Amino acid sequence: MNATAPIPQDGTTNLDMDGLSRILFGHAAFQYLNAACELGLPELLGKKEGLTREEIRDALELQERAVDILLLGCTSLGITIKRDGRYRLAEVIESLMDQGDWQRFKDTVAFEQYIVYEGQLDFTDSLRENRNVGLRRVRGSGRDLYHRLSENPHLEQVFYRYMCSWSELANRHLAEKLDLVGCEHLLDCGGGDAVNAIALARANPDLRITVFEIPASASIAEKKIAQAGLGEQISVVTGDMFRDPLPTGCDVVMFAHQLVIWTPEENTALLRRAYEALPEGGRLVIFNSMSDDEGDGPIVAALDSVYFASLPAEGGMIYSWGQHEECLRAAGFRSTERIPFPGWTPHGVIVATK
Ligand SMILES: C[S@@+](CC[C@H](N)C(=O)[O-])C[C@H]1O[C@@H](n2cnc3c(N)ncnc32)[C@H](O)[C@@H]1O
Repeated sequence: MNATAPIPQDGTTNLDMDGLSRILFGHAAFQYLNAACELGLPELLGKKEGLTREEIRDALELQERAVDILLLGCTSLGITIKRDGRYRLAEVIESLMDQGDWQRFKDTVAFEQYIVYEGQLDFTDSLRENRNVGLRRVRGSGRDLYHRLSENPHLEQVFYRYMCSWSELANRHLAEKLDLVGCEHLLDCGGGDAVNAIALARANPDLRITVFEIPASASIAEKKIAQAGLGEQISVVTGDMFRDPLPTGCDVVMFAHQLVIWTPEENTALLRRAYEALPEGGRLVIFNSMSDDEGDGPIVAALDSVYFASLPAEGGMIYSWGQHEECLRAAGFRSTERIPFPGWTPHGVIVATK
């Protein structure tokens, strides 16, 4: 299989047999990536000139057949490059390492492996029934994935590591492009481990931030805020954003990686609650991945939607910019602004005003 053959990314590209085979064996391609990460192959190769098969075998403590399989897969997929009998890393992985994003990428791989993989086995049924059938594979009785995580400590750890890393891959742009001059108090609804609150607090030292989280996850945020030394600037309030009153006194409400989880009706209900909590002129910020209004990409938005369809909650997907804007209008907001972010994740921000 040709590792460089493009996977069609829009409705105009003709899928060939090579591309179709890559989709057919997509799960196996991912397993090579995951195994390389778990075995430490990228770190071993690092910036080296190249290691032989035998050096890799010995360093990773693999048997002959196992190292042959690993290198066959990694090399045919382009994760490793073989030249003159020596293996080195793909340039794209080297640059993730150079940028300090490699651990963040690996946290995303672990999330796909330990949380997404099993749940998406129910993707077809989830489409048929228009609900997250895959949640049945996560132990517990909570009404959604988030209300089950504390019953599954390993999953909880994998989830919040990933959530932190996935946010950090994009929140450097959030901190840079979101103009909060003149804003006093931001409410981060469903703020997770406070990763985005911490980034915004550092970028805006005069801004107060309240993270609103369910009781089961609030302690994770409290710990991270204390570690960052930002306890004076960021506070945590526990509650259910669908049922409890939102904390008052904020002039900005942010939903980060939040409005990809719920149905459009639930998103509109959340936005209405935020609208009611905001003063006239107050701002609403949606920060997450977005799909194109044409409904044909980008590919990361499309592939990530399998998770949102199958697992976390009854509705959800990587909605288009336009779908979010429709919910904002239905909730009463006027003037919306789109800010697409650069980078390989399809992140962006929509800012709306009351
Ligand atoms: C996908 S995570 C996003 C976390 C964080 N905003 C980020 O971008 O990294 C969704 C978060 O929403 C929280 N959450 C889910 N349902 C909630 C509810 N009803 N009320 C408050 N928070 C909720 C979850 O506990 C989880 O931490």
